[in-house]
Amino acid sequence: MSRTPVIVGNWKMHNTVGDALQLVRALKVKFLGVSGVEIGVCPTFVLLPAVIDALKESNIGVGGQNMYFENKGAFTGEVSPVQLKDLGCKYVILGHSERRQFFGETDELVSKKAKVAHSHGLIPIVCVGEKLDQRESGLTEEIVGKQVDGSLDGLTKEEMSKTIVAYEPVWAIGTGKVATTEQAQAVHAFIRELLRKKFDAAVAAEVRIQYGGSVKPDNAKGLLSQNDIDGALVGGASLKADDFSAIVKAAI
Ligand code: 13P
Repeated sequence: MSRTPVIVGNWKMHNTVGDALQLVRALKVKFLGVSGVEIGVCPTFVLLPAVIDALKESNIGVGGQNMYFENKGAFTGEVSPVQLKDLGCKYVILGHSERRQFFGETDELVSKKAKVAHSHGLIPIVCVGEKLDQRESGLTEEIVGKQVDGSLDGLTKEEMSKTIVAYEPVWAIGTGKVATTEQAQAVHAFIRELLRKKFDAAVAAEVRIQYGGSVKPDNAKGLLSQNDIDGALVGGASLKADDFSAIVKAAI
C-alpha cells in the first residue's frame, strides 16, 4: 500500500505574528500546485488564527503543538480540542519529547489526549523517541516500544490508521546530529511491527511514521526514501521557507 508522505513543521516557541505571516505567505507560493505530499505547519497557539487565515485555500494544513484533553473548564493556561478544531486546525502534536521532558507528560496522558483528538476530528501526531544514554545502553527498542504501546493505548483500529507517529530520537533534536538512514529505518520498521501486533497488519500498513531530529534539505531525501519513513516532523529547518520547501519537495 502506498502511504502519502506527510511533512509537518513544528515551529516550537518561535515567531511573532509578523514573522509567521511572512513565512507562511512565502510557503503558500512555494507549494502552489505541489501535490503527492501532505504539508502542515504547527505554530504556537497565539499564532494559530493569523496563520490559519493566511493559509485559507492553500494546500498547507495547520496544527497545534499540544492540547488538553477536556473540552472546556477551569484549566488555566490550557487549550482545548474544541478550540483547536473551531479555529480550523487539522493536526495536533502530542507527547513531543520537550513536553515529556520539561512538562512531565506521560504515555498515559498522551494516549488520553490522542483519543480525545480523534473524537474531535483532529489528527494526532504522536511523538516517541529515546534519549542518548538509552540508545547507548541498547535500550532504544525497549523505550520506544513502551512509548508506542502506552501512548497509543485505547485507540480503535480506525483511529490508529489515521494517527501519525513521529519517531524523534531525542539526541537528534536540535543538535544537528541526524540519525543515519539505517538507524532511522530500523526503528521505523520496529514501530510498524509493534503496530501490527497491537492493532493489525492493515493498520500497520496504513499508519504514517514520520522521522524527526535535525532533518535538513541535505539529508531529507536519504531519510524519506527509506521504506518505513513516511514523512518528517521538522523543527529548525521549518522556520526557513527555502529549507522547509526543499524538504517537502524531497518527499515527492
Ligand atoms: P529539529 O529539526 O530542530 O532537530 O527539531 C525536531 C523536532 O523536535 C520536531 O518536532
